[in-house]
Amino acid sequence: MIERDRIEEAGWIIANAKYGVVFTGAGISAESGIPTFRGEDGLWKKYDPEEVASIWGFRRNPRAFWEFSFELRNKLFAEPNPAHYAIAELERMGIVKAVITQNVDTLHQRAGSRRVLELHGSMTKLDCLDCRKEYDWSDFVENFERREVPRCKACGSWYVKPRVVLFGEPLPMDVLEQAVEEARSADVFIVVGSSLVVYPAAELPYIAKSCGAKMILVNAEPTVADHIFDVRIYGRAGEILPRIVEVVKSLKQNS
Ligand code: OAD
Ligand code: ZN
Repeated sequence: MIERDRIEEAGWIIANAKYGVVFTGAGISAESGIPTFRGEDGLWKKYDPEEVASIWGFRRNPRAFWEFSFELRNKLFAEPNPAHYAIAELERMGIVKAVITQNVDTLHQRAGSRRVLELHGSMTKLDCLDCRKEYDWSDFVENFERREVPRCKACGSWYVKPRVVLFGEPLPMDVLEQAVEEARSADVFIVVGSSLVVYPAAELPYIAKSCGAKMILVNAEPTVADHIFDVRIYGRAGEILPRIVEVVKSLKQNS
């Protein structure tokens, strides 16, 4: 099947759906300038996730985590791309009921998505691991501009950690439970920009599939779970999703 046919088919499935759920990973933000973790220019080629993105690494050496985060600081200044906007539009059309994301960049919300379940947390809030004081990102903007490790303003601890899930930490249980519920309710489940190798997040497409959802994949390359998808489209999310939304709109107009 040529790509145009697959986009038509995905559009047709989505236009006929009553409960769409979208599941996203780093690939959806790639066109916003945020590097992905795996793949050719993936961050894990350059950094050791054990050192910079695990809770024990953070405890051992918060500076290594922060150096990594400073490198990613465009995460916080990045803008949503057409893929994020396309998903928000499907929600406004009443088709998409929830977006489940592994990303911590808040770009879905900034593109207008309202129901966003952040499985791996987000960079916007921070907590002191010693005295539990909560902070907003804006409390430390000056530190970040100077690439200084933030220090708790209440107790002086160096362990001020963004509310993101590091390796070795559990996912927020309430968010995970809601995500499972959404996956079970979905009649179409759309995966965008994820390698589907990190668990428990990667279990959600299997849950949706086993509960009867039609499965659509939009990803730059094949994943380990390709066999569970009814429609697979390989390419850039920012180009493909707006085209799918166009198909959905024209089908809705003609029905
Ligand atoms: P990955 O980096 O593992 O996978 C991103 C996927 O997006 C790859 O399969 C790419 O081919 C694809 N991709 C790249 N550019 C794309 C584009 N423009 N359009 C569509 N697809 C594109 O990212 P995740 O699956 O999100 O966890 O990784 C899952 C988790 O692993 C992350 O949340 C993070 C990481 O370690 C934690 O830090 C806990
Ligand atoms: Zn403190």
